[in-house]
Amino acid sequence: MLESLTREPPGRPPDYRFGLRLAERGSVVGVGDGIAWVSGLPSAQLDELIYFDDGSTALVFQLAEHLLGAILLSQQHGLTAGMAVQRTGHRLKVGVGDTLLGRVIDPLGNPLDGLAPAETTESRFLEAAAPPIVERDFVTQPLYTGSKIVDTLIPIGKGQRQLVVGDDGMGKSAFVLDTVINQKGRNVLCVVVVIGQPRSAVAATIEALNSADALQYTVVVVAEADALPGFRYLAPFAGCAIAEHWMRAGRDTLVVYDDLTRHAQSYRELSLLLRRPPGREAYPGDIFYLHSRLLERSAVLAPGFGGGSMTALPVVETRQGEIAAYIPTNLISITDGQIYFDGKLFAAGMLPAIDIGRSVSRIGGKAQHPAIKSAAARIRLDYLQFLEMELFARFGTRVEAGIEEKLRRGRLLRALLKQDRLAPLSGQAHLAWLLAYEQGLLERFAPDEAAARLPRLFARIAERGLTLDAPQETWLAALRESLAETT
Ligand SMILES: Nc1ncnc2c1ncn2[C@@H]1O[C@H](COP(=O)(O)OP(=O)(O)O)[C@@H](O)[C@H]1O
Ligand SMILES: [Mg+2]
Repeated sequence: MLESLTREPPGRPPDYRFGLRLAERGSVVGVGDGIAWVSGLPSAQLDELIYFDDGSTALVFQLAEHLLGAILLSQQHGLTAGMAVQRTGHRLKVGVGDTLLGRVIDPLGNPLDGLAPAETTESRFLEAAAPPIVERDFVTQPLYTGSKIVDTLIPIGKGQRQLVVGDDGMGKSAFVLDTVINQKGRNVLCVVVVIGQPRSAVAATIEALNSADALQYTVVVVAEADALPGFRYLAPFAGCAIAEHWMRAGRDTLVVYDDLTRHAQSYRELSLLLRRPPGREAYPGDIFYLHSRLLERSAVLAPGFGGGSMTALPVVETRQGEIAAYIPTNLISITDGQIYFDGKLFAAGMLPAIDIGRSVSRIGGKAQHPAIKSAAARIRLDYLQFLEMELFARFGTRVEAGIEEKLRRGRLLRALLKQDRLAPLSGQAHLAWLLAYEQGLLERFAPDEAAARLPRLFARIAERGLTLDAPQETWLAALRESLAETT
């Protein structure tokens, strides 16, 4: 009997074979809050996709002795206890490639912009191993954010992971979006991952990108506040996979995760619902691993391995400036530096409200142009000294003339560091204001007047087409002449 089943009958194509396929059939035990409990799938694996009889799918998240917990990937109201479930043997993938540019999608790649689904020919696993050390290269190229403070004092290099941290409403999202917008014409493909934000904020994000013509080189991956918790958990991994495809193809990419606080909360929600043991602040024990395996996938690839790069700007929200909380400290230790947005600076109208003393970039300096780097290094120390002196002088202390002079210069620098939204600066403009300040060319103006002169100065400098490599004397001569022309 068995023999007759396995023998190939004549007339069949040679690769056609009869055989026995075993399929497990499980059933739903309970469902709700974006998760399902399933029994009867003893060989299902973690992260495997399973599907229900009504067509909805879920991802295996928790394995117990007789039950498995799964996170739902579609909100089907017909899904009830007793319904049959089957394994797929597959892990979750998302479509990748250039057709996604300009699109707004959910973490599974479904369109959210009302257009037809993007036709993709390739796909990548949401969960993938980070590039090993042999495939990596050093961070050597700058990634220009356009921000005066960041590009000069806290520089970011391509392939770096730089945390953006601060309280709600301090300008974190504004900064990361401005950075995406500044990549226009710079050959950097961007992925903006929006996690757990209300629909109005999502709409504002898309509108900001659209009106700045930034959508053409950007993909927006959205899991709103009221999306399934599974979507909020998967969104950053989907965004990362999409960027990874381009990085492997030799492109430079920038991924923004806004924000990972909400991502961590979604993960906690799922973990508690599926009864993983809670740890500190009720987060599961592997919350650190969750974010490190995501951010470790950002890299610069060596030429033999694709040669592209993935820069990551994860955002994390703090409460009352508490960066020592669990999730922010985890992320600070995973990333290559942080940009700290401070409430007091914001209240004082010092925008962008970046606290230079508490911000750091551990590797970006290596990617900075030497001309900008040397001018910026002197300024950073001056500025931090000034802030301390100012605190001291505030008590009505009489200070000697030398210190008075330093205070005056500090106030000038503070005025120069202010920057509006959507007013990105080029590398040349950065060098122009740094040198002009440093060499005292702006001393004859009051701080606000000096700041008001900068745009005209930048325009004059741009007309001259000086490169960053030009000798400092050439730059200084050009600056003096240009400044005279702005008067
Ligand atoms: N450099 C800036 N100049 C003027 N307004 C700014 C600047 N940066 C941020 N803002 C404003 O601050 C507000 C809060 O910014 P947002 O990016 O939403 O904060 P967060 O993401 O930290 O919650 C927004 O209205 C934004 O336009
Ligand atoms: Mg925000």
